[in-house]
Amino acid sequence: MEKIIIQGGKPLYGRVAMSGAKNAALPLIAATLLAPGCHILRNVPDLRDTRTMLKVLEVLGARWERNKSDVKIDTTELSGGEAPYELVKTMRASVLVLGPLIARLGYARVSLPGGCAIGARPIDYHLRGFEQLGVETKLASGYVEAISNSKLSGGVVYFDNPSVTGTENLLMAAVLAQGTTVIKNAAREPEVGNLIDMLLGMGACIEGKDSDCLTVQGVKGLQPADAVIIPDRIETGTYVLAVAAAGGEVTITNCNPNHLPSLLEKVRDVGVEVEEGESEIRIKASVRREGSAQSLRSVNIRTMPYPGFPTDLQAQFMALMMVAEGVSIIHETIFENRFMHVAELQRMGAMVDIDGGTAVVKGLGEIVPCGAQVMATDLRASASLVIAGLAANGMTEITRIYHLERGYENMVEKLLALGADIRKVQE
Ligand code: EPU
Repeated sequence: MEKIIIQGGKPLYGRVAMSGAKNAALPLIAATLLAPGCHILRNVPDLRDTRTMLKVLEVLGARWERNKSDVKIDTTELSGGEAPYELVKTMRASVLVLGPLIARLGYARVSLPGGCAIGARPIDYHLRGFEQLGVETKLASGYVEAISNSKLSGGVVYFDNPSVTGTENLLMAAVLAQGTTVIKNAAREPEVGNLIDMLLGMGACIEGKDSDCLTVQGVKGLQPADAVIIPDRIETGTYVLAVAAAGGEVTITNCNPNHLPSLLEKVRDVGVEVEEGESEIRIKASVRREGSAQSLRSVNIRTMPYPGFPTDLQAQFMALMMVAEGVSIIHETIFENRFMHVAELQRMGAMVDIDGGTAVVKGLGEIVPCGAQVMATDLRASASLVIAGLAANGMTEITRIYHLERGYENMVEKLLALGADIRKVQE
């Protein structure tokens, strides 16, 4: 197994380009199942999770090839509608094939994903939604079996919480249903918008993009897609927070600042200079020295569905608050168990108290945290440890970095190019 070693305390300077969004690539790859033929997806990040999704498609009979960041997927013939446990257990987003498989084949058998490091994460909204479209679902031997004896029919679906993959799954099922489907309290994340654009390009009829109410008029068939994955807003936010914590001046390119309204506002409140261009963000933060007055202020955050503060940046924001001056209150409202990074940050000197979904972080102020041996527990928790390691004095060793590789393309190489002292070594 590999681990990351960071010699902290080096500010970051230069330019860094963002990759395509993992959480947009996954549903867009699944959506190619909707129409037989050769699809092309551009700006697809080469990550463990996108490779897993392509493997799921391969098991279903599709063929694919990658040329740099373009991925061609041929879904002309499908061999079956079953996504096995071995793949789904490694990535719960594999359930995104349920919607397109039911729409195209009338049945699907997909392993139930099971627990996850950040919470229970059920898929009851997805299943209830499919039932509204006339699909029969049942659980057997750990698998969800979904069958529709006739063509799916439109219906009204209401989500108790705006579920991102729930909205995507239902959209993909509804585009080929007979009649109209209305999805109420739909997720408004930009990744959902990216999927809607792809489906529109394939000939689907969807109204309400970027709103919480989507209306889908089912069509008879769809054409293969040629679609571009949007830049990864969570990767972008992670680099914004890394520069804020380590100090320096970096221009983040190939990104969409409009997709990070809450984060950029909060980072400005912290005292970091943020300049937004059309597809660039320039971040300038002062370099901290042990014993000198702290220039970063503590601010509070509450994670919320888009356009609120993303839960996927909560851990990384906490790493920044660890080195700020004052007290920050962090409310995690989306997932019940998303503070696994706290125990690891505490090994580096963080002062954090947790009470349910609330973390109270007492910033270290004039004290610079110290490097330590820490363990990554999930994807975003790993990123928070990298940020803390960059801001710390001395050496930080992060194990279980396979989590990081699920969602960050070439993170070590990108940080190296910005002047960080970081390397990957075999354990
Ligand atoms: N929920 C249910 N039942 C459901 C679906 C969701 O109770 O059937 C609850 C969840 O437990 C949670 C809330 O609804 O409390 C919202 O969850 P959502 O369904 O939106 O999460 P998701 O679609 O499973 C996606 C991202 C996550 C991201 C969340 C929230 C993908 C592939 N994953 O998950 O990304 O944290 O939305 O924004 O899009 C990550 O990239 O690290 C990651 C975990």
